[in-house]
Order: sequence, then structure tokens, then C-alpha cells
Amino acid sequence: MKLKPLYIKNLKVDPPLILAPMSGLTHTVLRQLVAEFGGCGLFYTEMLSARALPNESPESSPWLRGTAQERPLAYQLLVSHAEELEAAIEKIESCGADGIDLNMGCTSALIAKRGGGIALMKEPKRAEAIVRASRKATDLPLTAKIRLGWTMNWNGLRDFCLMLQDSGVDAVCVHPRLKQDRLKRPARWKYIAKIKQLLDIPVIGNGDVNSPQAAQRMFELTGCDGVMIGRAAVKNPWLFSQIASSLSPDLYDNKYPDPADAFKRFIAILENSMEPEYTLPLLKRFTFYFSQNYAFGHTLWNLVHNADSLATATYLADEFLRGVD
Ligand SMILES: Cc1cc2nc3c(=O)[nH]c(=O)nc-3n(C[C@H](O)[C@H](O)[C@H](O)COP(=O)(O)O)c2cc1C
Repeated sequence: MKLKPLYIKNLKVDPPLILAPMSGLTHTVLRQLVAEFGGCGLFYTEMLSARALPNESPESSPWLRGTAQERPLAYQLLVSHAEELEAAIEKIESCGADGIDLNMGCTSALIAKRGGGIALMKEPKRAEAIVRASRKATDLPLTAKIRLGWTMNWNGLRDFCLMLQDSGVDAVCVHPRLKQDRLKRPARWKYIAKIKQLLDIPVIGNGDVNSPQAAQRMFELTGCDGVMIGRAAVKNPWLFSQIASSLSPDLYDNKYPDPADAFKRFIAILENSMEPEYTLPLLKRFTFYFSQNYAFGHTLWNLVHNADSLATATYLADEFLRGVD
């Protein structure tokens, strides 16, 4: 197979490989690192509270920042009520967003209790009001990221997806797990295929893609228009470059690095892009996934996790990395 560009409204996503929204992980630092390797056609921010956004700015909140390298960049909204949207979307547009995503899949109990994330899949009327209000508020490409719902009910899921399409969503990202699955059981890719057959708008598949072979399998088995990658892109920020060069070798280089260099580069971008109070917590979150590159990765994870400053974490990590082949 060959990769072909995906169009979300007028936004060209080329290659059709997408970095998933992940809170605490897909901030400007990881996105810049992924962009340096190449192969990622669309970046997402982590979920941003629509209620809080009007009072925030890129100066006060690093989660709103995006450099010219991390493009195109879609901002994900965590929203419970349609009334929150206008001001939130205005703020996101002023930050230079290339697209907007509505989070309809977050399984956090607190968020669901407040009516956000996957709670919207239980209340299609409220979800519809949110999509319609978003559509009215912006001409930017609009996506919705969903799970399969609270329990497996294909008719309900089918109607929900058709509602999204009819209400103005330009593409649907499908993370095919139920609420109770969280991230544990394998993603049920057959539902990506069913939703793809159902809809006229593009469908982006997500869940458990961690190699060029898995990306190719997802494209071929589901017919999806794009593949979105989360956790594996934190472990291997060069994964998009590997996938793109494997599926379209004439267009992309495989920029497989020495992982130790990628880790050091993450820290350099981190220091350059984030205020000091954020750097150590963000390095810890990144290292949780990145350390899985090494047979004794738990040692790297422990060293960074227990460090009390960025300088100590960097020093200890460097010692570890010099000791591995
Ligand atoms: C730590 C973490 C944070 C996440 N935060 C978000 C989020 O803010 N918004 C969202 O839609 N999904 C979020 N997700 C879900 C991912 O976007 C993705 O759907 C999931 O990890 C499955 O894809 P993967 O198997 O490629 O990781 C998060 C996942 C993880 C592991």
C-alpha cells in the first residue's frame, strides 16, 4: 500500500499519520521532537477545558503554545455545554489553531461526572448541540474523537456517528474501546471498519499502533483514511518517520536515531520551551514511556522519577544512557 493525503475539510494531512491528544504528553516539546523526525501529518494538543480557556493565554499556559514546526496543529476541547464554545473557540482561533477537535472519549470519572468526555456519548442530544454550536462558531476543520460508548450497542453507535456527520463534523477519530476498557483490552479495530463503511466523511483509526506493520494493518483491515498514534509515539517519537518511510519510501526518510540522542534532545527542547516549574514533571511523564525502549528501562524510569531537580534527572539519565549499547 501507499500513503495518500487525507483531507479534513480543506486541511491537507500528508502523510495521513496523526499524533493523538494525550494530557501531560502531547505538549509543544514532544510535538517539536516528533516534527524534527518528520512523518507526522497532523498534531493535536491535549484536551483543553473550554470553560477555562477564555481566561488563559499562550503566555500564561504552555498548553496553548505551538511553534511553526508543529503544523498543522488541532486543538482539542473538553466541553460539557454548548454555551462554553463560542468564547473557547475564539481563544483557540486567536492561538493560530489549524483545526478543532471535540473530546467525546475521555473516561475520567471526574470529567464524565461534569458531563464531558465520554459522558457525551450517553447524551447524543447534548453532544449534537455541542457539535452544532462548534460548527456555527468556526470555519476551521472540526473533528470529534470518540470511543465505542459505555456498553456495546452498534445501533446507538451508528446513530451517534451519523449525528456527528449530519451536525457538521468534518472527520471522526475512532478509538475503538468501551468506557470500561480504559486502555486495557485490545482496541476493537473492526468497529473502525464499520464506521468507515457508514460515513462519507474521513475516519481516523486509533488504538495499539506501534510499528509500521501495525499501521499498515490498520489501514488495510479497516480502510481508515488516517492512523492516529498515542503511547507508541511517546516511546518512539521517530515512529511516524519510520511508518512514512516504510509505506512511502520514495517520499520519506527513515530518521531512526540513537534513542539516547532523542532523549537528550527532548530535554533540550523542554528547557527551551517550558517554564522551569513544568520541566521536571513533564520529563517524568515522558520517561515513563520512553524508558520502555530499554531492557532495563525501569532503572531509567526510577532514576528520573525519584530525582528532585531537572539537573539531577538529566545527570542520572545521562549516566544510565552511557551504560547501555
Ligand atoms: C496518558 C494519556 C493521556 C491521554 N489524554 C487524552 C486526551 O487528553 N484526549 C483524548 O482524546 N485522548 C487522550 N488519551 C487517549 C489517546 O489519545 C489514545 O486514544 C489512546 O492512548 C489509544 O491510542 P494508542 O494505543 O495509540 O495509545 C490519553 C491517553 C493516555 C495514555
